[in-house]
Amino acid sequence: MDHRPELVLAGVQLPDGRRKDITIRDGRVVHAGAGPAADWVIDCTKYLVLPGAVDVHVHMRGGSQSKKEDWQTGSMSALAGGVTVVVDQPNTVPPLTAPEVFRQRVVDAQVHSLCSFAVNSAVTPDTQIEAMWGAGAMAFGETFFAPSSYGEAMGVPDLSRMLGRIHALGGLATIHAESVRPGDDDGLAAHDALRSPEGELDAVLAVQACNTSGCRLHFCHMSSALSVAAARGTVEVTPHHLFLSREKVCDDNTMFKVNPPVRSERERKSLLASWDRIDVIASDHAPHTKGEKAQAFSQAPSGVPGVETMVPLLMAEVLEKRITLPDVIKKTSTTPAALLGIPAAGFGPGDRADFAIYPKKAVTLEADLLHSRCGWTPFEGLRAVFPKTVIRDGTVVYEDGEFTRVSPVWFAGRGYAGRPAPAKR
Ligand code: DOR
Repeated sequence: MDHRPELVLAGVQLPDGRRKDITIRDGRVVHAGAGPAADWVIDCTKYLVLPGAVDVHVHMRGGSQSKKEDWQTGSMSALAGGVTVVVDQPNTVPPLTAPEVFRQRVVDAQVHSLCSFAVNSAVTPDTQIEAMWGAGAMAFGETFFAPSSYGEAMGVPDLSRMLGRIHALGGLATIHAESVRPGDDDGLAAHDALRSPEGELDAVLAVQACNTSGCRLHFCHMSSALSVAAARGTVEVTPHHLFLSREKVCDDNTMFKVNPPVRSERERKSLLASWDRIDVIASDHAPHTKGEKAQAFSQAPSGVPGVETMVPLLMAEVLEKRITLPDVIKKTSTTPAALLGIPAAGFGPGDRADFAIYPKKAVTLEADLLHSRCGWTPFEGLRAVFPKTVIRDGTVVYEDGEFTRVSPVWFAGRGYAGRPAPAKR
């Protein structure tokens, strides 16, 4: 049988402290222990090796939104941040509500993405839920309970009905839980007040109350400790809610405008104190152009880029011993993979061979270091640790700023009923 060459990651320090050589063949780990003489050996003794991250909340844009980002630049940004699998959100233009647009989205990613991916189905009153499941949707949503960029809010009766249909399929509903009060949205403090933590909590409770079928729920980008505590489902939190607070910048700074809002420093600290209850860290990578963000606060779109900085920011915290490496692996790789039902990346035989190899040294974050087309970051000036080398499906796909394109894996959802149109190259 024709095998790809063997790759050995030598002297990898496992999360439990033991050192092993990890032997990789045909995209999988085949052995952990003393490594054989291999075609290719990477010395990992001075580095921290993590299983590739799975970012379950990414807006890759593309199509008419390609000035913000597309699959190529977005996936380069992902890989350069140690993320080997992304889950694309369906609030695209047009939104992913029908199988034909969904299939086109998958083909676009197959042709242009450098990282592996899954694609979610939109949830609107008109979405063909069962057909989207059959087309290979990974999960449903983010389902908007309040309006946001490129997302219309769902009312309670429609949502309740849709949750019933998703549940009947055994699917996962992912929820953007917010409530919006009317008022002048003219700065970060106002944005925080109009889309308040209390409103987020109300939305969580309302979604749970209308989930009469008992559909499996995943709460996206939770921004306050109270909502985290109230959530009956898996909890996702973003780095911008963990590491940024609105008092750190001028009130009219649109680069911090995002839904749910960047909160006060006090709220940020209580969210961080909920660390153990957080199941998944995801970026909610939502790039907009600098021009769009240069508009008056009330006109500027909500959303911040973050797929490339998610793990690097967490790794800087690991170096400072504020969080542990096993927690980072669990919340960015193991749990997200289990949530989606895709094979886990890891150090044991049979595991998916996606890894990112990090130096034990942080740098100061600057937009120039990053690969997203949007060209800016809200995390400017923070400390971050970027991977030197990234391996996807057993192949080095990124090293010292250079990318090698290897066809991505599309992870279709469990309902997938057939083959997508062959990708044109
Ligand atoms: O701030 C946000 N931007 N929140 C969302 O839910 C959507 C996102 C976007 O797509 O720009």
